[in-house]
Amino acid sequence: MPGGQPDNATNPKLSEKPFLRLLTQGPKAPLPATPPVWLMRQAGRYLPEYRKVREEAGGFLNLCYNPKRAAEVTIQPIQRYGFDAAILFSDILVVPDALGQPVRFETGEGPRLDPITDPSGLSILDPSNTDKIYSHIYESVERIKGELPDETTLIGFCGAPFTVATYMIAGRGTPDQAPSRMFAYKYPDAFAQLIDMLVDSSIEYLCGQIRAGAEVVQVFDSWASVLPDDEFIKWCQEPMVRIVAGVRQYHPDVPIIGFPRAVGPLYEDYIDKTGVNAVGCDTSLPLTWIRDKLQSRTVVQGNLDPILLLNGGPQLEHRVKRIIETLSNGRHIFNLGHGIIKETPPEHVTRLMELIRGSAS
Ligand code: CP3
Repeated sequence: MPGGQPDNATNPKLSEKPFLRLLTQGPKAPLPATPPVWLMRQAGRYLPEYRKVREEAGGFLNLCYNPKRAAEVTIQPIQRYGFDAAILFSDILVVPDALGQPVRFETGEGPRLDPITDPSGLSILDPSNTDKIYSHIYESVERIKGELPDETTLIGFCGAPFTVATYMIAGRGTPDQAPSRMFAYKYPDAFAQLIDMLVDSSIEYLCGQIRAGAEVVQVFDSWASVLPDDEFIKWCQEPMVRIVAGVRQYHPDVPIIGFPRAVGPLYEDYIDKTGVNAVGCDTSLPLTWIRDKLQSRTVVQGNLDPILLLNGGPQLEHRVKRIIETLSNGRHIFNLGHGIIKETPPEHVTRLMELIRGSAS
């Protein structure tokens, strides 16, 4: 059962947490001198200390399901860089694994699942027994919460139903998500059944993370942009409306960040209809458009190009300055437009933090 526990409204540490404060205060409250900052995939292979723990854990999912190690790698980037938020170390594919479709991560390759190729394939899924897997993750959240500095906000997360479904149907990452798009056209009722199951399980999973100590949650819809607008509304936006309502029913004060990556003009209606407290902005959105169309609606997060962070140098300095100048008159969380790339030199992140924290005018 979701529910329980008081949330941010009664959190005595709220005022010490710049990231949480920005997300919970209204548009009229004073802005921080520099934007709060964290990076998508900030815990990961670009860090030597992560690679060491990953090797000891013997496999990526073993790392996700080992609360002690998961907590350790979650906190590594906080210790190194002092980000304003930590994101729980886990993966969006924990949800299919918990539903009974086993997930494997083979070294050097992406995730692998036995694909669901037609409606009969859905029969393996059992939403009644997910706690066996989710409980490991909740334990990680509790541990992380106990070990984080007071000023750091803890973010929980899940994948959006459509993005998770693309892996369940194709059994792996694909360049264009064609298998799930075909499935949705061919078997719309079965696809709706899968999306509904993922909506319910995501609500349960996010509420469990919040009860365990997550202070903000983010929903990653990394592949939303492959859909035509009417399909986007049906399979991405409407499910997100239900996830937001489902989580808020039990935790009305916990901010929810939506990330419908690369959907361009569809961001506006997505914000209005879902009522998310913030949106992750991908690298393709023009900064002045983010300022004029999105920042007036909600908090914006983003949108440095991960390739530019990989490259570093004067172009990085110039762009970071432009992002901050353009978005600093409204509510902005500094982040990348997508996850950090594993070849990124850790010193480039050090430089990025100097640029952001030194940007107060
Ligand atoms: O941001 C963080 O630091 C928290 C952890 C996190 C991971 N995955 C760890 C991870 C988060 C938030 C995710 C989300 C995720 N996972 C998404 C949505 C965001 C996005 O990047 O679009 C998606 C699509 C996945 C699915 C997934 N997991 C893929 C396609 C891969 C393989 C690609 C790759 O980068 O290796 C993963 C593996 C994965 N998830 C790794 C990490 C650190 C690398 C695994 C390893 O250490 O070998």
